[in-house]
Amino acid sequence: MNTEEHDVRKILLGREMIVLWMALFKATRLYGPGHDAVHSAADRIRSTLHDLAESDADVVLAIRADSFFIDGIRVREGSVGSASYQRLLDVLGAAGVATLRIDPEVDTGEIETFARLLLEDSEGDARPDELVREMAVMGVTHIEFDVAPDEPPEDTVDQKQVQKRIYLRAIGVIKGLFHEAREKDRINLRRVKRVVQEMIESIDSNSEFAMFLTSVKNYDEYTFNHSVNVGVSAIALGRAVGLTRRQLYIVGQAGMMHDLGKLCIPKEVLNKAGRLTPEERKVIQRHPVEGFISIATKQGVSPDTIGVALGAYEHHLNLDGSGYPATAAGRPIGLLSRIVAIVDRYDAMTSARVYRSASISPPKALALLYHSQRDQLDQALLRSFLNLVGFYPLGTVVRLSDSSVGIVVGATAEHALRHFPVVTLLLSADGRSIQEETVDLAEHAKEQDPLQILEALNAAEFGIDVMEYIL
Ligand SMILES: [Fe+2]
Ligand SMILES: [Fe+2]
Repeated sequence: MNTEEHDVRKILLGREMIVLWMALFKATRLYGPGHDAVHSAADRIRSTLHDLAESDADVVLAIRADSFFIDGIRVREGSVGSASYQRLLDVLGAAGVATLRIDPEVDTGEIETFARLLLEDSEGDARPDELVREMAVMGVTHIEFDVAPDEPPEDTVDQKQVQKRIYLRAIGVIKGLFHEAREKDRINLRRVKRVVQEMIESIDSNSEFAMFLTSVKNYDEYTFNHSVNVGVSAIALGRAVGLTRRQLYIVGQAGMMHDLGKLCIPKEVLNKAGRLTPEERKVIQRHPVEGFISIATKQGVSPDTIGVALGAYEHHLNLDGSGYPATAAGRPIGLLSRIVAIVDRYDAMTSARVYRSASISPPKALALLYHSQRDQLDQALLRSFLNLVGFYPLGTVVRLSDSSVGIVVGATAEHALRHFPVVTLLLSADGRSIQEETVDLAEHAKEQDPLQILEALNAAEFGIDVMEYIL
């Protein structure tokens, strides 16, 4: 076969591939995974791939300027028909796939799984990296893809806006999940998983700002805000102690869902301002078990969901054997659960609640965790958490040594000067408001009587919209 004949053959096989992939998507959509029609469509793709590869080379299907290229040769729609041709472009494009590389060793199962994931992702708003992760989890190892080139990098302000959007979306997702768990026998964690994936990425790009978002408390919807805060903080702490991506993915979900069992607590008990009766306390203390059951039974059991469900089950268990639910003495508590336990407490302490109007300032909460509750919590993790949050996290309202009041808007890089952050002044010593004056306390730290922080105050008391200063 000369080169020209060879190319023509490739083009024909390429067209066949396009038709076969569309047939596979159609069968997957119509009959669901595992059906004979799906098997045979995938098998035909596999054998066409063999024909295409001939030698053992990978088959590369690329999309450029709205056309397919097989191994660099353009495949016009020809006999494929423009509808199928365009549809396949759309499916791949929606999932962010620019180049598909298929190893001829691929088996039918991998092709089927890939088609199903691709279809799900192109219909949702999945991101390419999520598809990559799902493929890895599902054992699709002989198919790889490159993504379409990224948009130009965003500047920091935009990045913060993106992070804020992810945070708000996470709240919407968790709200939806609570609703679903209440109404249905099954819950779908797809949206939760997707947003956790995004949270992990956004924490990678700016963990300080992510932690700041958790400090902006919304008291009306405590449970949802709290769930997302615990998810974000668990990922940030997990990242700080070197967890793998997969562990971060599980701990993020565990954080988001740790209090799912609270659905079973009547509102009057959950929000009761006065002292709880022993019966009411019992009802509240059921929530880790209810959460475990809900996640493990409504989602179906897999190694991932067990990790997530365990996080819910163990988050009120303490290392000194106290806490709930009652459990065998000396039973070890999982690493991910120990992470959730720390960030859960911190977020609860720093939030105002219906039954306790004042929240505790971040430094006080940290000090409390560190000194009063140290036997209950994992010491090494707690130290990492202290470092992560910093003594005066972004957004902390503080009184300075000259009696002025300000808000922490930046940290100092030098560890020894961590008590001297960057502060925007809000009120002068005599209580008048100050326009946008920012001081870097670290610059004055070595002076004889440096301007420094006296105490952290409660932002709510000053009616300050913290977000305005940080974004
Ligand atoms: Fe809880
Ligand atoms: Fe909680």
